[in-house]
Amino acid sequence: MLHLEFNSESENEGIARIVTSAYIMRFDPDMEEMEDVKTAVSEAVTNCIVHAYFDENGKIEMDISDKEQIVKIEITDHGIGIPDVKKAMEPMYTTKPEEERTGMGFSFMEAFMDEVHVYSKEGEGTKVIMTKKMGEKNHLNG
Ligand SMILES: Nc1ncnc2c1ncn2[C@@H]1O[C@H](COP(=O)(O)OP(=O)(O)O)[C@@H](O)[C@H]1O
Ligand SMILES: [Mg+2]
Repeated sequence: MLHLEFNSESENEGIARIVTSAYIMRFDPDMEEMEDVKTAVSEAVTNCIVHAYFDENGKIEMDISDKEQIVKIEITDHGIGIPDVKKAMEPMYTTKPEEERTGMGFSFMEAFMDEVHVYSKEGEGTKVIMTKKMGEKNHLNG
């Protein structure tokens, strides 16, 4: 289990990625698995920086744990929150089209991880919980 708290500065997104890859190394992931998990973390952390806190500085928490080869990553912010999670998770939905956001962040998380759950309350913050079973591909290929 690992708990990390960092400021919502864009430089820290890279640190979140590196910590994630260091954590999942124990599962001897192939390159694709590694990239998938790192991309999902990037998208979730970027959302905290650009949406949850926008101009201000706030705290982002990242918790990583695993059980029976299933890696669980929780990314939490205490920012503005999401009024309609279902809508926010639709492909190409973005509240910041002017900043060349593509609205695909949640779609990537869902594509690259096995499960993505989002809990949010307006004015209180957002928690994204993602899981992925590691070593599935190796297993299937024998
Ligand atoms: N942590 C967050 N806090 C507040 N709003 C968020 C958060 N994450 C996502 N959102 C909202 O959900 C929308 C969709 O997110 P996403 O799929 O990553 O697309 P994008 O970041 O390109 O807008 C965002 O435009 C934003 O309105
Ligand atoms: Mg995004």
